[in-house]
Amino acid sequence: MDLDLDGKRVLVTGASKGIGLAIVRAFRAEGAEVVAVSRETTSELQATGARFVSADLAEPAAAQRMVESVLDLDPRLDVLVNNVGGGSTSREALADPFGGGVDAWASVFALNLGAAVETTRAALPALTRSRGAVVSISSQNARDPRGVPLSYSAAKAALNAFSRGLAEQVAESGVRVNVVTPSGTRTPLLTGGDGFGAELAGHLELDQATLLAMLPQQAGMVTGALIEPAEIARAVLLLASPTMPSAIGSNWVVDGGALKTP
Ligand SMILES: NC(=O)c1ccc[n+]([C@@H]2O[C@H](COP(=O)([O-])OP(=O)(O)OC[C@H]3O[C@@H](n4cnc5c(N)ncnc54)[C@H](OP(=O)(O)O)[C@@H]3O)[C@@H](O)[C@H]2O)c1
Repeated sequence: MDLDLDGKRVLVTGASKGIGLAIVRAFRAEGAEVVAVSRETTSELQATGARFVSADLAEPAAAQRMVESVLDLDPRLDVLVNNVGGGSTSREALADPFGGGVDAWASVFALNLGAAVETTRAALPALTRSRGAVVSISSQNARDPRGVPLSYSAAKAALNAFSRGLAEQVAESGVRVNVVTPSGTRTPLLTGGDGFGAELAGHLELDQATLLAMLPQQAGMVTGALIEPAEIARAVLLLASPTMPSAIGSNWVVDGGALKTP
């Protein structure tokens, strides 16, 4: 299937590992030029041939500066993928809905909502010129706020609302905005020694391998298996493709059947 992404210029945030890295690889395989953003690069990202730009997108002004530097190199932009997210995995945030206080909530909102809003704001003029596409990565927890810090669920729910509203407002200018909603996906966020999976295992007093084996069933995934990042990337590519001009404001759930509502 030709997705018409060959030669397109794509910006991916949170791109050095996990779902972001899989998205970079998938766009590169279609012949797209990719600019990949995270705080640090990895050998896996370097191997894709994407151009790396370092930015800490939890900082309020970082998104605007990052987009300006990307467009200074080349003013074209066809696709923006707002993938960066995650955030506070402290025991306090898991044990107490208000855990960590106002600063912890603000930092989770900054990374999961603010980074997408500010990156999109800065990129929109270039995307309007190309009649391009925005795809943002949400989470099952936006609609099923169990088992993770409540701040994360609330920020992803806000990302859904922002994306749906923006889709309506920019459709006439030719920019399409859509969301992909994963459930548990096999990435360093869950499998790494210092990510959410490790913190949750500690909180539940389980070893991490046991937690990861239980997680699909606990999340309601009828497949019984974590999702591979490449599968999420395939959904992103299809929504970003100019061959899907009617995909506007959609929220594509790729969750192994975890969400039980229609
Ligand atoms: N894995 C899952 O089960 C799952 C499920 C539902 C939704 N999601 C969502 O999917 C997206 C990707 O998650 P993932 O599991 O792939 O996460 P991950 O494995 O933790 O990777 C996160 C990526 O974001 C970058 N990053 C983190 N903080 C950053 C910051 N402040 N500024 C810039 N870059 C930053 C990381 O690189 P650096 O550390 O070098 O910056 C890395 O490249 C997130 O939005 C997450 O909420 C994940």
